[in-house]
Amino acid sequence: MAEIITFGNFKGGTGKTTNATLTGLALARAGKKTLLADFDPQANATDIYFKTAINAGETEKSFNETLLKAIENKDLKRAILNLGDNIDFLPSSADFSLLPRMMEKQFPDSYLERVTYISKLLKPLDEQYDFILIDLPPTISLISDAALFASDWVLIVLQTQEHSLQGAESFLKYIQEQVINEYQAPRLQLLGILPVLLKNGAPVDQSTLQIANEEFGTDNMFGTLIRSMERIKRYSINGVTNHDQYDRKIVSLYDDVASEIIERVKDNG
Ligand SMILES: Nc1ncnc2c1ncn2[C@@H]1O[C@H](COP(=O)(O)OP(=O)(O)OP(=O)(O)O)[C@@H](O)[C@H]1O
Ligand SMILES: [Mg+2]
Repeated sequence: MAEIITFGNFKGGTGKTTNATLTGLALARAGKKTLLADFDPQANATDIYFKTAINAGETEKSFNETLLKAIENKDLKRAILNLGDNIDFLPSSADFSLLPRMMEKQFPDSYLERVTYISKLLKPLDEQYDFILIDLPPTISLISDAALFASDWVLIVLQTQEHSLQGAESFLKYIQEQVINEYQAPRLQLLGILPVLLKNGAPVDQSTLQIANEEFGTDNMFGTLIRSMERIKRYSINGVTNHDQYDRKIVSLYDDVASEIIERVKDNG
């Protein structure tokens, strides 16, 4: 059974896409069969995956079918592409923004039916993967509701700045009140909060981290700190690479994140 983890925060640009991607690659290195699912119509993650595959020496890939079409055809497998050893991805594209409209037509009388539909489509993938990581857009919509409903876990990416902290708080509140209490998500739990430093060593980082520890509890904070790195920034533009010491530093950092996730899932699953 796959562990489904949604990466979230209601603040934009906090590193959700970057961290979902690098964590997925690390889980695959740890031997876990992993699927990276891009549920953002902006398709930033998809762009990174296509470029990452080319960097790894693969021939240029193209869509089998868009995510929206695969949902329409009730078979997500049709849209899945391979990214490397142990790792596949489900690419998104702009048409995915039409999901709410499509679901509205399909289930005109029940919002809850629209929310639960994606979880049913993910079911057949359960046996194929150890981990399914979902990258979300930063806004509340049917897309985030459906992804969270389907998830076992939510990982909150917290950039050390006030707005990201507020985004994380409102995200957690939304999960509890709306997704768990209202929609009755069957499995959703907090996996943890992954802190991403804005400016290495700046006082704002330290104070936000301290507030986060008090607010969310030290147990809920990942022990691995993601620092701001030029190379990581470059991955968003050029795709992920792995050929020099800077890449290797990031590999080692995310291997730590993956180990923590594997432990947390084992302890709390
Ligand atoms: N550790 C890091 N070091 C340096 N730059 C980073 C780091 N993490 C993320 N970034 C950069 O910050 C920007 C936003 O990151 P990303 O796209 O992952 O955020 P997001 O939360 O997915 O954004 P959105 O809400 O738009 O989906 C990108 O340019 C990315 O390269
Ligand atoms: Mg993103």
